[in-house]
Amino acid sequence: MTSITLPAYAKLNLTLDILRRREDGYHDLQMVMQTVSLHDDVTVTITGGDGIFCRCGEIPGDESNLAVKAARAFFAATGVAPCALDIDIVKRIPAQAGMAGGSSDAAATLRALRRLLKPELPGDELERIAATVGSDVPYCVRGGTALAEGRGERLTTLRDAPRLHAVLCKPDFAISTPMLFSRVKVSELWGRPDTTGMLDAIHHGDAEGVLDRVKNVFETVLPKEYAEVFDIKERFLRLGAEATAMTGSGPTVFGLYRDEAAAEAAYAVLQADYAQTFLTQFV
Ligand code: C5P
Repeated sequence: MTSITLPAYAKLNLTLDILRRREDGYHDLQMVMQTVSLHDDVTVTITGGDGIFCRCGEIPGDESNLAVKAARAFFAATGVAPCALDIDIVKRIPAQAGMAGGSSDAAATLRALRRLLKPELPGDELERIAATVGSDVPYCVRGGTALAEGRGERLTTLRDAPRLHAVLCKPDFAISTPMLFSRVKVSELWGRPDTTGMLDAIHHGDAEGVLDRVKNVFETVLPKEYAEVFDIKERFLRLGAEATAMTGSGPTVFGLYRDEAAAEAAYAVLQADYAQTFLTQFV
């Protein structure tokens, strides 16, 4: 086998909490993560050529691409002799959206390289390599419903959250993650999620309990110029969403629905105003 195509799923934060600032400049987080059906397709091909080539829609496929970084990290950490690669990414997940699109492409690249070159490599080894590529990459390797702690790389797999429909709506701007972290004074944070309650609700398969506890503390430090995030949340509530929040460091806002028809109706309305609106479900 010289080529493999894998889906790279987008993620949502059902909760996002910031616990403390660390000596290394990062923050200790506590996040309940969930993959959704929106995905890129990542094809990794071993070629007879030279070097690592990456095509990724309009996003640079050069050394700055996380998928290329992931491939380099795989060879460096495993001792597998580096070989020439083509990484071809069909992009659907918007970039800089809070949905871990780039991290998910990197994770799919790592999973593909394991399948092609070192199938015996244990999952925890692959996640360790993933952590050197980016904070969200280990979670993207694992997927599903999980608690992510530390920088985001310490994972606990949870029982699958109740299957919900998620409408994703990305306004037409990007929010810098380091900028948002720089606005956080941990001792002054308010509007923090009830992570324990969320874990309990997931454990008991309690959809209402999950919906009641969706929350992202980053919303409380958003600069005023990004207030459209709150407008979209209000629209979701008017459109019958049972929970709504920003995902990650934004700007994408999601609305959750138990009822598929209600999700479809909300999608149809928002899609008329926001080109980057997606109808998805938990996977
Ligand atoms: O690890 P990653 O490159 O995804 O992180 C991007 C930036 O976000 C970091 O340089 C840091 O400023 C901030 N960050 C943080 N705490 C985390 C994750 C990211 O402060 N747990």
